Amino acid sequence: MRISFCCTDTKAQPWLDGLQAALPGAVVEVWSPSAPLADFAVVWAPPQQFLEEQTQLKGIFNIGAGVDALMKLRLPDGVPVVRLDDAGMSVQMAEYVCHAVIRHFREFDRYEADVANGKWSYRKPCLRQDFSVGVMGLGVLGERVSRALTQFEFPVMGWSRSAKAIQGVQCFAGEAGFHDFLAATRILVCLLPLTADTEGILRHDTLARLQPGAYVINVARGNHLIDQDLIALIDSGHLAGATLDVFRTEPLPAAHPFWTHPKITVTPHTSARTLREESIAQIAGKIRALHTGAPIASLAGVVDPKKGY
Ligand code: NAP
Ligand code: GLV
Repeated sequence: MRISFCCTDTKAQPWLDGLQAALPGAVVEVWSPSAPLADFAVVWAPPQQFLEEQTQLKGIFNIGAGVDALMKLRLPDGVPVVRLDDAGMSVQMAEYVCHAVIRHFREFDRYEADVANGKWSYRKPCLRQDFSVGVMGLGVLGERVSRALTQFEFPVMGWSRSAKAIQGVQCFAGEAGFHDFLAATRILVCLLPLTADTEGILRHDTLARLQPGAYVINVARGNHLIDQDLIALIDSGHLAGATLDVFRTEPLPAAHPFWTHPKITVTPHTSARTLREESIAQIAGKIRALHTGAPIASLAGVVDPKKGY
């Protein structure tokens, strides 16, 4: 069995060593043009040339949860694309989002500013029931995040394509439930995949439907958000601010207004990192299963090309 590794912006050697150790009989190698044909690919944002040349693949494994970069390419018909299914990301995402929600709700950003100015000041506690959190996307990450938020007793709501039942979470689904979901949300968390349906979903007319003083946390993809609409709604006072981990261009360009906006916190796409050991174990397990004849439908994380995620 031959495995081709083609991941931009990723140090290859530790992945090759890990995959080799997990799949001792396999040849594991970094792809380069005209490389031998492989049985399986492990990729992140590969060039189109990789897919044109690798015509014998039985599975393409994405070393991330989001497959939007892959979905932009012409993919070979009938070859399953498998994304990371949690692999240690959901707990990180829960940490990040709970931190951002609590930092905003408890006004820790303002306390930090006061302390930096040598000011000992109390603020009137905010009411938890006024800070309902709405999570867009109730998949592997969104469900974990919404469950984690219920532990802090925030009113939690979720929105997904298909209807869900999650204990302690008020679930809305589809277009029919979207406006009611937005109208009830004070802190909005985006954990949607980036698809034709969700691109630009965080725009003026949707954000304007949030409760006055709403806060936006985008941890999904930069292209979900229309940057200037967010800034306009913060500057008009309708939104209180935002925490953003993902951007249309990454790294965030030095001149982008998000860097310096006093009500926007940015982090460098770090809310849920790909953890190498967990990811290798998961991918190697699935390659072994496919290699020994397991049906593709038995694997978690298989992408539906029609849905785009
Ligand atoms: P997932 O399991 O595929 O979940 C996606 C969720 O979004 C599902 O609940 C799905 O609804 C819902 N959804 C999709 N299209 C929708 C639409 N048009 N309207 C309403 N709901 C829709 O994905 P995941 O593993 O949770 O990951 C989510 C995203 O997080 C990834 O695609 C990636 O972009 C992002 N991410 C970011 C980081 C980071 O570090 N910032 C790390 C990992 C992932 P159904 O359940 O009904 O299908
Ligand atoms: C990271 O953004 C991922 O999609 O895993």
